[in-house]
Amino acid sequence: FRQRSAKFLITAVKQGHYQHLSHPEVAFAGRSNVGKSSLINSVLCSQSLVKTSKKPGHTSALNFFSLSSRARAGEINIVDMPGYGFRSRREWGGFITEYLSGRKVLRRVFMLVEAKVGELKSTDVSFLELVEEYRVPIQLVITKADKLKSADAAQISNAVIKEATRIAPSVLLPQAICCSSRTRMGIDTLQAEVLSVCGL
Ligand code: GTP
Ligand code: MG
Repeated sequence: FRQRSAKFLITAVKQGHYQHLSHPEVAFAGRSNVGKSSLINSVLCSQSLVKTSKKPGHTSALNFFSLSSRARAGEINIVDMPGYGFRSRREWGGFITEYLSGRKVLRRVFMLVEAKVGELKSTDVSFLELVEEYRVPIQLVITKADKLKSADAAQISNAVIKEATRIAPSVLLPQAICCSSRTRMGIDTLQAEVLSVCGL
């Protein structure tokens, strides 16, 4: 990632705002405050390109970032999604459904679950139902793993995968990634996944 450059592209709330962006894309989703924006900063090796906050509900639209590699002459987009669980489904649902249903370049959604929470909440279940319906490949990321012992994080990861597989059997990848933006645990693995799924 050191020979790659990251930049902010656009904030979007409807298809017309992003349909001209045609590079391979991944998106980060999860409940408010789970650590999506922090994790994208870690993946992009940036301190503050993506704005983060202690207050839930900070990211309120789709924020698009680009990562380009000169060495491989390629570019990918990374999307920071607004957290669910903070806004009502009606408020959150419309443009998220539009995004998930019609985004041909979207290669994978990384869905974050906080290690300490340790289970899927009803909003996670609704999100999984949505990606199952629209056939978007999804991979679980257990976040803030620095708050748990690694054996506990592994156990939680297995339990969450099992539960999520029941809800989204045709799109969920069988492997989760345990991460911490604080300690950078798991970040190399996540970076490698992002690049390989986008063919960079
Ligand atoms: P919304 O935009 O509101 O949906 O939140 P978000 O999911 O983007 O969360 P954000 O990255 O803004 O982080 C929320 C809070 O969690 C901040 O106070 C972060 O400092 C904290 N946080 C993020 N990642 C980690 C982590 O790996 N470990 C710990 N201990 N705290 C973290
Ligand atoms: Mg955010």
